[in-house]
Amino acid sequence: MKAVFLRRHGGPEVLEYGVRPDPKPGPGEVLVSVRACALNHLDIWVRQGLPGVSIPLPHIPGSDVCGVVLSTGPGAGRFKRGQRVIVSPGQVPPGDPEGYAARDSYSHRFRIMGLQTPGGYAEKVVAEERFVVPVSSRWSDAEWAALPLAGLTAYHMLVTRAGLRAGETVLVHAAGSGIGAYAVQIAKTLGATVLTTVGDPRKVTPALKLGADEVIQYRREDFSEKVRALTGGRGVDVIFEHIGPETWPKNLTCLARGGRMVTCGATSGPKAEVDIRYLYSKQLSILGSYMGSFAELSRVIEMAEGGTLRPVVDRTYSLRRAAEAHRRMESRANFGKIVLRVR
Ligand SMILES: NC(=O)c1ccc[n+]([C@@H]2O[C@H](COP(=O)([O-])OP(=O)(O)OC[C@H]3O[C@@H](n4cnc5c(N)ncnc54)[C@H](OP(=O)(O)O)[C@@H]3O)[C@@H](O)[C@H]2O)c1
Repeated sequence: MKAVFLRRHGGPEVLEYGVRPDPKPGPGEVLVSVRACALNHLDIWVRQGLPGVSIPLPHIPGSDVCGVVLSTGPGAGRFKRGQRVIVSPGQVPPGDPEGYAARDSYSHRFRIMGLQTPGGYAEKVVAEERFVVPVSSRWSDAEWAALPLAGLTAYHMLVTRAGLRAGETVLVHAAGSGIGAYAVQIAKTLGATVLTTVGDPRKVTPALKLGADEVIQYRREDFSEKVRALTGGRGVDVIFEHIGPETWPKNLTCLARGGRMVTCGATSGPKAEVDIRYLYSKQLSILGSYMGSFAELSRVIEMAEGGTLRPVVDRTYSLRRAAEAHRRMESRANFGKIVLRVR
């Protein structure tokens, strides 16, 4: 099959378009013909190499797949050839106790497709039948591919970890990021007031269209001062954080008393400064978040099927132009998800 893969870590130039062996479905597995695969910022970390994570090379990245079923292995009988599906980016082995408790991403055996296993920058992927989900024709292949990892992460952060409630105010960093575009929508669905940030004036209108109540251009004005001004000095109840050292210190100054900061990322670097005095005097909570469970993914897909969550596609590229797609993400030009068209 045709695929994009890396033989060594590095810049976008290490992404090679070529031929890789076809995967074969084993017992209980489904072979999916990939139609579209979305990029995540994770793909950049995978390409560059992650400290402490050994990725066997050559490796095919890509965690977000929409496609059609090609064939099934022994014992897998839920799907018919040609059926349209997406694949869960997070997977746990059968019988994992956290899986039964719908806490998949807490398991030490939790695996992400495209990180620990071969991903979707390819014509075919294999997945356990349990992690393959039928989807309707409501959205295009690119739109469905744009949903799973980022939609799941935003849902887990806001609903499960931060427990965002109606009437609360949330600051979502980077409305134009893959996860931010879903966080704005999910927070509105929950009945929250949504403040968000953008690094480029061209992202203001799309952020408002997603439902944001206020869009802060953080290169022009200090986001924490603006948040305090917009909330009458009180601060926000929740901060949806994934930027890292560039935002952490100021986040603590614009959280309300009893506020929660939920974080899933370190885009601007891995080490941030915390002024402990804000933490205790304002009785703040800092919560870590990692992907989510299959049960939560099912809820996110339900929301998309029902139209309360809209996939946000920035731009599509053909598979062979994956390096160009990576460059666009690294230049921070995207609003929403960049998607590779595979067939
Ligand atoms: N733990 C998890 O489960 C999980 C899951 C998904 C994502 N993540 C993490 O969440 C982060 C966002 O992921 P994504 O896929 O949504 O990314 P993305 O689509 O590439 O969006 C990143 C955006 O962040 C903003 N940004 C602010 N400061 C930045 C900086 N110093 N460098 C680069 N971008 C900066 C940029 O928008 P502006 O220029 O408009 O500010 C940029 O477009 C990544 O760190 C990713 O690894 C974690």
